[in-house]
Amino acid sequence: MGNDNTSAELFQRASAVVPGGVNSPVRAFGAVGGTPPFMASGSGPYLTDVDGNTYVDLVCSWGPLILGHAHPAVVEALAEAAAKGTSFGAPTPGEVELAEEIIARTPVEQVRLVNSGTEATMSAIRLARGATGRGRIVKFAGNYHGHVDSLLAAAGSGMATFAVPDTPGVTRAGAADTIVLPYNDIDAVERVFAESGPDIACVIVEACPANMGVVPPRDGFNARLKELTAAHGALLVLDEVLTGFRVSRSGWYGLEGVAADLVTFGKVMGGGLPAAAFGGRADLMAHLTPGGQVYQAGTLSGNPLATAAGLATLRNATDDVYARIDAVSAQVADAVERELSAAGVPHRVQRGGNLFTVFFTDTEVTDFDGARAQNTDRFAAFFHAMLEQGVYLPPAAFEAWFFSAAHDDAAIDRVISALPRAARAAAEV
Ligand SMILES: Cc1ncc(COP(=O)(O)O)c(C=O)c1O
Repeated sequence: MGNDNTSAELFQRASAVVPGGVNSPVRAFGAVGGTPPFMASGSGPYLTDVDGNTYVDLVCSWGPLILGHAHPAVVEALAEAAAKGTSFGAPTPGEVELAEEIIARTPVEQVRLVNSGTEATMSAIRLARGATGRGRIVKFAGNYHGHVDSLLAAAGSGMATFAVPDTPGVTRAGAADTIVLPYNDIDAVERVFAESGPDIACVIVEACPANMGVVPPRDGFNARLKELTAAHGALLVLDEVLTGFRVSRSGWYGLEGVAADLVTFGKVMGGGLPAAAFGGRADLMAHLTPGGQVYQAGTLSGNPLATAAGLATLRNATDDVYARIDAVSAQVADAVERELSAAGVPHRVQRGGNLFTVFFTDTEVTDFDGARAQNTDRFAAFFHAMLEQGVYLPPAAFEAWFFSAAHDDAAIDRVISALPRAARAAAEV
């Protein structure tokens, strides 16, 4: 130490000036222990920390970087855009082009650009309420939609009762119009609609949940949500912030084909810059200001750097890119299963398109209770053994592993050869 720029010293300095030393809690390594490495740079599939270690990155900024770090087309687009000015607070061509690109790939007819996934879901919920004139919303336990007050709710004591705040700072009133149901439980949804149908504005659901680990929808679950909402005059909001433009060129929609009334996007569509969107049927989007009455706005929405990075990313996200990500993800998922089995570690590798999670449990996970039943200590041991061998996994057990098209054979070989030791470390817990 003695150098102000090691990860350990930076974390100490950060902890003095930023709560917990981080700007988003999972970065603090609380779930796995230890000090988080501070990153200095990224290139293709690799991250380099300020201490000079390089890692194969399987976080990819939590999803956005499907082309890898510092892809030349993205860097060039950003440099060109920055030279022309960073923000105008007035319409720009990039916003039109990015909206057109999103609409060409998905079922939405119109989109509004925002700055984060949180803003996208918050705005979609407001629009759903404004368009239907109804107040209550339905969400599922273990589904994460950003830190929107009404979506930081947990199930109350009985089915279809008022939800309760899931964090201090959300008022009872803020959570009271949210109904939280067990994921994948269509009977529970049917009961709620039977009881409270006329009050429900929308159901919001992750297209394929990945924020409790990857827990894919049962066959027909999303389609049935669409039918039920339509039958009761409510709306379906599919949250594709994480899956959008990642699991296929059209996101989860490209794999399953359920067209929601409203869809939220983020991550990949911003190419690593803060950009997100919500979109849907034109008749619904028409309720937004300025044409309609539902207020929604943003100083930096559609920012020219963000749209340049997003467009460069999406335009380079070709069929070959998705084929490569699908292939390396499957290759690593198979290798993880093989090595954990060889080490005698109970596990389930659950896949949703090219996303997967290793659950340290021997039962299939279909909902949040199942996800929480896993052995997170085993994950922590596995995680640190991978990190020591130069592989940066998501630092929490309830996350998906993310790949990019830049993950070449050398990077994948490093991941696969680190697995036996990590599997033994998990076995020893
Ligand atoms: C499915 C989903 N929705 C919404 C969000 C919130 O996005 P943001 O972190 O950009 O606010 C996330 C973030 O991880 C997400 O995975």
